[in-house]
Amino acid sequence: MPHADPSITVTLLDWYGRHGRALPWRMPPGADAPPPDPYRVWLSEIMLQQTTVAAVKPYYERFVNAWPTVADLAAAEPAAVMSAWAGLGYYARARNMLACAKAVVGEHGGRFPPNAAMLRELPGIGDYTSAAVAAIAFGEAVAVVDGNVERVVTRLFAIEAPLPGARASIRRHVVALVPPDRPGDFAQATMDLGATICTPKSPACVICPVAAPCAARAEGRQTLFPVKPQRARKPLRRGAAFVALRPHDGAIWLRRRPEGGLLGGMSEPPTTGWSARADGAVDASEAPVAAAWASIGSVSHGFTHFDLELTVWRAEVAADPPGEGWWSPPAALAHEALPTLMRKVVRLARPEPALASG
Ligand code: ADE
Repeated sequence: MPHADPSITVTLLDWYGRHGRALPWRMPPGADAPPPDPYRVWLSEIMLQQTTVAAVKPYYERFVNAWPTVADLAAAEPAAVMSAWAGLGYYARARNMLACAKAVVGEHGGRFPPNAAMLRELPGIGDYTSAAVAAIAFGEAVAVVDGNVERVVTRLFAIEAPLPGARASIRRHVVALVPPDRPGDFAQATMDLGATICTPKSPACVICPVAAPCAARAEGRQTLFPVKPQRARKPLRRGAAFVALRPHDGAIWLRRRPEGGLLGGMSEPPTTGWSARADGAVDASEAPVAAAWASIGSVSHGFTHFDLELTVWRAEVAADPPGEGWWSPPAALAHEALPTLMRKVVRLARPEPALASG
């Protein structure tokens, strides 16, 4: 067990009390604060996976207004949840989130189980989220380690091992620092420090509350931590997207992507069969219907394991293309479950209508 310096914990809690961010899902910091609603903590943590606080805030507000309790969310129409999620990315999160809400209602009487081990059994809840909800909503003294915390801790203790191998060591250091009476505040203090002061490229060490005990700072090597593994370059995948416009009203033909795959269950103009491992055709040979298809440019999008470039084709199409799908008139487009990539495609094909960026 690493040597715990209690002054680091005390200093971080004190700093959090004065400078922690006021976020819609948080309670005011302090040992006597009322416990937050586990549903809201869970919802925010699911949304915050891979996504910034700024991007999450409006989605979070929309979700708690539409579905104020876990029972409301469990009873929601999946299509309504997917379109409320559209633009947040990583859509498996939304599907797992619904499955989790149903499990909490069906198997736990509508109450989230109160510790990390039981939370970890629910759909979509991994090591990080189970620990975060247990610490923040239930006061369990567990280590909560996300990317921000990894950066703070590898710098504080100058941990030289590269990620991901360093994770066990990082966890031991965090465990030694967690205060039994305020684990949730401590978790959020370390996350806030990482997000606002101990940032990746130019950390604001001059205003950092734990600059004095920081080993990396003492050596002037802050930005060298965490040590990253050698990374293979992401492959570039290609494909094509076909925007069929109905002449009399400008409606666009959309279809639903199969459940389970990338962007599963989300809507799209028809595209060729690109995937993380294979390119799709980029010409008009796989268009959904014969028409005067014109190439109008391309859109690019970064997924976790690959980048995608879609050539975008547009044509006026009067009759319904074969296969399942629907015409989405301009006024309906903003409410479709279009992921960000597909919004880019639609915007390129028809820039005029107000299609909010996701
Ligand atoms: N990132 C993930 N969860 C967070 C939280 N509770 N506070 C701040 N940043 C976070």
